[in-house]
Amino acid sequence: MRYRRLGSSDLEVSEISLGSWLTFGGGVSNAQAEACVAKAFELGMNFIDTANVYSSGGAEEFLGEVLATRPRDSYILATKLYFPMNGDRGLSREQVFKQIDASLARLRTDYVDLYQCHRYDVETPLEETMEALTEVVRQGKARYLGFSEWTAEQIRAALALVPRVEKFVSSQPQYSILYRVPEREVIPLCKENGISQIVWSPLAQGTLTGKYKPGEEPAAGTRAASQQMGWSMDRFRDDDVLRAVQRLVPIAAGLGITMAQLALAWVLREENVASAIVGASRPSQVEENAGGSGIELDEATLQAIDDAVADVVVR
Ligand SMILES: NC(=O)c1ccc[n+]([C@@H]2O[C@H](COP(=O)([O-])OP(=O)(O)OC[C@H]3O[C@@H](n4cnc5c(N)ncnc54)[C@H](OP(=O)(O)O)[C@@H]3O)[C@@H](O)[C@H]2O)c1
Repeated sequence: MRYRRLGSSDLEVSEISLGSWLTFGGGVSNAQAEACVAKAFELGMNFIDTANVYSSGGAEEFLGEVLATRPRDSYILATKLYFPMNGDRGLSREQVFKQIDASLARLRTDYVDLYQCHRYDVETPLEETMEALTEVVRQGKARYLGFSEWTAEQIRAALALVPRVEKFVSSQPQYSILYRVPEREVIPLCKENGISQIVWSPLAQGTLTGKYKPGEEPAAGTRAASQQMGWSMDRFRDDDVLRAVQRLVPIAAGLGITMAQLALAWVLREENVASAIVGASRPSQVEENAGGSGIELDEATLQAIDDAVADVVVR
């Protein structure tokens, strides 16, 4: 496993990290989820992403339990706030203080390494959010701050408040071979300002593994076939998308790597991406995905990937 510096922080995160949306505390049994966490540590993954809202606190509770036996400084833990939960929502001063304490209690720890705004809150003045988050850092409850899916304009506004408030070190956008919107504005802006990307759904929720075939029902046991999780995958169930993904199969085979590894190496070709956050429902997936670290893709391969998905890529 290789590691990269997270923005201007002193955190060195594994290039492949473990996510927990839909899986932990919810879609995947606790025994399977525990086996995934154990496999991740065995393979050198040191970075785990969660959120207060995942399984309504269940993902944090699960992680609090399984991480309790490990030394706190042996892993880097990221969580988030913003989305509605038990009648609460947003990034007001009151919410920031309430949600960090609730997350820390569920996670059974005194601090998170990274506290992220899950989205931008248009109903709270940015100064109020940033001042509250800065107090959270000064109280030692979070080491660093990040955001997810903020626009370039919102990121610039937050940077303009520094050094009066803590500076963000990470950005968590959706980014994959199929979804490249962050390349337009967010990545260039973050590069200039010591902010790394930690990207979500780098496998397009499993679609980029090639396991979903055009014209075929998803196999039992996959996210797309799951009643609990499949709702989130509509836009990747389009046959044109699935046909484009199948055109990547010979490219991965020619390199002697798996489709998942090709997709993860592709996001990591961008030096501003510090880590690909990957969900997993079983340890064999974690093992395969860990192999996506340390693969260099040459120009001809990158061009072949672009050609294969040209008609479906979202930019
Ligand atoms: N900030 C945000 O708004 C946001 C949004 C979404 C996600 N996230 C974060 O990003 C993480 C990753 O996103 P994601 O889980 O949506 O997408 P993903 O990592 O692209 O896909 C994960 C799913 O793909 C399947 N999979 C993984 N590895 C595989 C392999 N080697 N072979 C075959 N199938 C494999 C598994 O599902 P099955 O086995 O069930 O098919 C797994 O749960 C989340 O866990 C979360 O921490 C953040």
